[in-house]
Amino acid sequence: MQNRIESAEQYKDFYAKSMQEQNDYWAMIAESFTWKKKWDHIQSGNFEDLNVKWFEGAKLNITENCLDRHVQNNPDKLAILWEPNDPSEQAISFTYAEVLEQVNKFANVLKDSGVKKGDRVCFYMSMVPELLFGVLATARIGAVHSVVFGGFSAKALAGRVKDCQAKMVITNDEAYRGDKVIPLKNITDEALNECRIVEKVLVFQRTGGDISMKQGRDFWLNELLADASNECEPVEMDAEDPLFILYTSGSTGTPKGLQHTCAGYMVWASETYKNVFQVNDKDIYWCTADIGWITGHSYMSYGPMLNGSTQVMFEGVPTWPDASRFWQICDKYKVTHFYTAPTAIRALEACGPEHVEGADLSSLKVLGSVGEPINEEAWNWYNEKIGKGKCPIVDTWWQTETGGIMISNLAGVTPTIKSHATLPLPGVSPVLVDSDGKVLKDNPAEGNLCIDRPWPGMARTIYGDHERYRQTYFSTYPGKYFTGDGARRDKSGNYRITGRVDDVMNISGHRIGTAEVEDVIDEHPCVVEAAVVGFPHNIKGEAIMAYIIASRESKSSEEQLFEDLNKMITKEIGPIAKLEKIIVTPDLPKTRSGKIMRRILRKVAAKEFDQLGDVSTLLNPETVDEIIKKVKS
Ligand code: WTA
Repeated sequence: MQNRIESAEQYKDFYAKSMQEQNDYWAMIAESFTWKKKWDHIQSGNFEDLNVKWFEGAKLNITENCLDRHVQNNPDKLAILWEPNDPSEQAISFTYAEVLEQVNKFANVLKDSGVKKGDRVCFYMSMVPELLFGVLATARIGAVHSVVFGGFSAKALAGRVKDCQAKMVITNDEAYRGDKVIPLKNITDEALNECRIVEKVLVFQRTGGDISMKQGRDFWLNELLADASNECEPVEMDAEDPLFILYTSGSTGTPKGLQHTCAGYMVWASETYKNVFQVNDKDIYWCTADIGWITGHSYMSYGPMLNGSTQVMFEGVPTWPDASRFWQICDKYKVTHFYTAPTAIRALEACGPEHVEGADLSSLKVLGSVGEPINEEAWNWYNEKIGKGKCPIVDTWWQTETGGIMISNLAGVTPTIKSHATLPLPGVSPVLVDSDGKVLKDNPAEGNLCIDRPWPGMARTIYGDHERYRQTYFSTYPGKYFTGDGARRDKSGNYRITGRVDDVMNISGHRIGTAEVEDVIDEHPCVVEAAVVGFPHNIKGEAIMAYIIASRESKSSEEQLFEDLNKMITKEIGPIAKLEKIIVTPDLPKTRSGKIMRRILRKVAAKEFDQLGDVSTLLNPETVDEIIKKVKS
């Protein structure tokens, strides 16, 4: 495979070249893609002016790289092995030639429905092949996709649709998820009551459930696809044209729509996939993420397709019909590369050994982890019970903002170290800084993780708010991209990510801002003030605790309040943001200037009572004892 890193030595050479001769390095890498016109400059701009560009002047369409070039060489190669939610339903597979046909049909449907280059198209679907085809079809006609995870609420969907001014929403009638049926179209209808800008809704019929269709606005996707031509020329895009927007939570404000570009993102998703996973021609790769998250974008929709891999796409959940489902699928398709999140590993381990004991799993060669730090216990179980001690585990650290993997070992090429992401990929220049922004040069070191030079896959902006992009990521440590994560670096330069150092929680690998949850809680009439923190949880990694000052008039019991709040959160955000626990307290620990001391609340929630530090300077130090008592009880 062209330019794939095959040895630790080569990794060192490539890494050094990417740092010392950046432009030559990326010119060499970019040569292997299909361009309609090559670039004038490899890279320009910097973090100070926040005007980073890659491959400027180049013209391309990412889907030609995902599809057409593979179809030319090997049209019958399997692209997608789709496994339905219900194991008794027929599975479906698609070759690269078939995917191209489906994507072309979908692209023609979009065009005929009035979608033009640059328009935003929002997807609110489950993991059906049509979601993947739709995403690629959007890219083929130069429109911009914004995929919203099907677990988000109507409110959350509405917020995202409005923010990116989507012209069209594409959804299912309903979605199968384990033993549940999720009414995606109904939720879409509710969301669209608030968003008049949406002109059309295309509905993919999955369950045949009873839904209402609004005349003139709603159309059955299946019917439109059936009549569409299977030929569609890819639209020529500029390197820096937007490819997609994806929303993610930060420490403040509403979710941010990170915008990624056509060329830089393509090169990044492709190269990182190729080097990290080391997938060969006959291998079967499976990433369990939903396309609604960045992992499903970079390591399902794009990375594997750009590399012509065969991949499994799974509609269902790991625990239905029982907790052996993942392992059954691995055996059924002889999966060689399996990529999932620590929260899934912990949840499946907790379901008991009988679910994995019956599985063969001998096809597996490489395991991957993403989304949160993988604790040693989960790592050991993954390594022994799933990998049978013979599969390298790639611990891939990255973010929605980075577009693709930034720090990871390369499977079978650079060493696996338990619970360590290890080394930066070529092009990635990580630095650790202390709280004053001083760069920690020596090893070992522990500090806040920043990246100090542009890389091709980085998001270029927050859609519609470049200033917010600067404020959020580039103002804490000027001249550097601040990740929001803390990390340790050992004496050999290997990184271990310790978790978020800002007000972003990581619940089952999903990012949720404390402020987002607080905003919902504050709307409850009995709540005077609330502070939300994450605390360690065996399965979820982190769970949410809310400290609440209730109004004097409040008559509701703590149980009632807990229930009410979770109903509100499910409605406003989605069930992933539900509270695990509430602590009703007469007061919250505050500084003399009136700021809530979250650091203390986090320590108390984690039951690290001896690590509270000096509380005597607080406005109300006695509160700390009160909340400790409450948490202990
Ligand atoms: C966390 C997911 C430790 C981290 C791809 C980051 C990780 C956030 C790892 C981004 C890992 C992701 N080890 N922590 N291997 N991978 N994270 O945007 O806190 O959903 O900042 O992207 O997940 O989450 P996001």
